[in-house]
Amino acid sequence: MKTAITEMFGIQHPIIQGGMHYVGFAELAAAVSNAGGLGIITGLTQKTPELLAKEIARCRGMTDKPFGVNLTFLPSFTAPPYPEYIAAIREGGVKVVETAGRSPEQYMPALKAAGIKVIHKCTSVRHSLKAEKIGCDAVSVDGFECGGHPGEDDIPNMILLPRAAEELKIPFVASGGMADARSLVASLAMGASGMNMGTRFIATKEAPVHDNVKQALVAASELDTRLVMRELRNTERVLQNKGVDRLLDIERERGKGLKIEDIHDQVAGVYPKVMIDGDMDAGAWSCGMVAGLIHDIPTVKELIDRIMTEAEQIIRQRLAGFLDGAEVKAPARAVA
Ligand SMILES: Cc1cc2nc3c(=O)[nH]c(=O)nc-3n(C[C@H](O)[C@H](O)[C@H](O)COP(=O)(O)O)c2cc1C
Repeated sequence: MKTAITEMFGIQHPIIQGGMHYVGFAELAAAVSNAGGLGIITGLTQKTPELLAKEIARCRGMTDKPFGVNLTFLPSFTAPPYPEYIAAIREGGVKVVETAGRSPEQYMPALKAAGIKVIHKCTSVRHSLKAEKIGCDAVSVDGFECGGHPGEDDIPNMILLPRAAEELKIPFVASGGMADARSLVASLAMGASGMNMGTRFIATKEAPVHDNVKQALVAASELDTRLVMRELRNTERVLQNKGVDRLLDIERERGKGLKIEDIHDQVAGVYPKVMIDGDMDAGAWSCGMVAGLIHDIPTVKELIDRIMTEAEQIIRQRLAGFLDGAEVKAPARAVA
């Protein structure tokens, strides 16, 4: 399948793995790139630019295919040294950066001077247009379903993607709620040139996280995520657990007066406890509603191959079949 995104990034399949804190290490990024997608190392999971440089080198040792680095600009107590992170990316020869959070405008000259393609993740049409205006090469349009930070507009992809298609000139991928061939074909139908997956890639053999996390995703349904930090205008979609229940109790108690310090124990330092130790009640960690569509733990290659094979079947048989007057049943449950 050739799309504007496969051509732009020099990849075989229009599938990107979004940056994920404490998940997007070299092992996962390389597995996705080796399977023909675009793997992404999560820049800020590496505590210093020097460590990011090492992680890039490690990934380079595992794949000769293109891969990218995610740079997230979120409110934080102490701002990371972004110019040094960008230098590590440039010197590591990485040619794709996925930006997210605040606008990357300030860093665009440095990224462009290094010949880096920038795909900015946005949760609204207006932010997507801003990304286009400041010279981003593509956007990842992240609907309300997504794991992580869906923004504050609450527009699901069924509306957001066609709206983005109406306004954008640069190519975009659909992000949030993407799990399988049905997601890919629907995204293409709504104007996207590919899809970005986060949560689905955690439940793969290569994802370097504790097995409890993968099992929790298989066990979870689409009803099991919660939105936290709304009052702080830093909304995050997370998987329900005891720590998150406590967080929501505190949010209810504090109401409009909620401060980030009030929920420190439920949001700070949670990722290593969950992803490394497998402590599933530790607190808030990002997870999408798409958990309801995750029923197995395949290898990344099995997952991507299955998506591409079934996408072709849906397009050639089910969709073309409608035009020929014969309905072909859709794949009911996408498991190996
Ligand atoms: C565990 C986890 C951690 C994430 N961490 C980041 C991050 O550090 N930076 C970022 O830009 N996006 C992050 N995301 C968002 C993903 O890149 C992606 O946009 C999102 O997962 C898409 O929605 P989906 O989970 O429904 O596929 C994270 C998502 C998950 C599930």
